[in-house]
Amino acid sequence: MTISATVDRWNPNPYVLSKAARIINAGGLVAFPTETVYGLGADALNPEAVSKIFTAKGRPQDNPLILHVWRITQAYQVVEFNDAAERLMNVFWPGPLTIVLPAKDIVPSITRGGLPTAAVRMPDNVTALTLIYMCDNPLAAPSANISGKPSPTDADTVYKEMNGKIDMIVDGGSVTLGIESTVIDMTDPSQPLMLRPGGMPREVIEKELGMKLEVPDNVTAKRSPGTHYRHYAPSVPVIIWKKGKKLPPDCAYMGIDTPEGVDRKKAIIFDSLGNYARGLFSGFRKFENDNVSCIAVQWPEYEYGLSEGLRDRILRSAGLV
Ligand code: TXA
Ligand code: MG
Repeated sequence: MTISATVDRWNPNPYVLSKAARIINAGGLVAFPTETVYGLGADALNPEAVSKIFTAKGRPQDNPLILHVWRITQAYQVVEFNDAAERLMNVFWPGPLTIVLPAKDIVPSITRGGLPTAAVRMPDNVTALTLIYMCDNPLAAPSANISGKPSPTDADTVYKEMNGKIDMIVDGGSVTLGIESTVIDMTDPSQPLMLRPGGMPREVIEKELGMKLEVPDNVTAKRSPGTHYRHYAPSVPVIIWKKGKKLPPDCAYMGIDTPEGVDRKKAIIFDSLGNYARGLFSGFRKFENDNVSCIAVQWPEYEYGLSEGLRDRILRSAGLV
């Protein structure tokens, strides 16, 4: 049995959160909202608790987890800092930026997928921050979906996928961003790497660093284990639609522009890139439930802001990377 409790996103009920914290401190699993997607949290320093995350999600054991902290000094406990990484934390936290750094010995091997590094992030969500504050240790939390499925952007979706597999869901409403955090590797500050584009745009990170973020090549890709696995994929085929092209027949559609001849009953038209990002994963799930035969999604035209992250999720959903 999974219990579910609703909280006000700006003013979360402390009794609900202290119950959630007690479950986590005792080695249980609690799903909670962040600004990006819902996370499935466990005590990051408790290997038995963390192993339950892998079981509940069906996640490969070599795919490491992000450690969520409520303040920068909590990250000191689990990773080795360098000046550039600390500057990024000061500028961009709380926010959708995950930073990979050398792990301290206190971090169990299972939490970091056997790697010598660990990923840390401070979510920009009052409910998440208060919950982490109430817990004894940082929270290991992947997205709260079955491995390989799109990340959940609301608590009902978590409930449908995780009921019976986890102890509690804290329902803080729909998320504000809708795609996962940007993951960068700052292990070697002279060679910062973009491991996963996401909610924090590349250009602002590069501006603060005064350097380009390199894409990991085939050698360094070892440092980015999650990217080997198929992600974000609905069970219905996803096809990319570009403005000016013909829409494939009989497909449902999501995007900002309205393709000629689109069936409006099977279309979700967004009025901004931000709303597109926020609605992509829940749109996939809606169309899956509607039993459509294919889903056409618009390729984001401009290369700035959320576009890189959104393009990445679209390519992965379409099985193209
Ligand atoms: O927005 C987010 O990041 C959400 C919310 C819940 O915080 N979390 C999330 O977690 O997306 P997950 O597990 O679905 O994705 C984490 C990514 C994976 O691609 C994983 O391989 C990578 O971060 N990662 C974690 N630790 C790493 C490490 N030590 N080195 C390289 N990559 C790492
Ligand atoms: Mg995930």
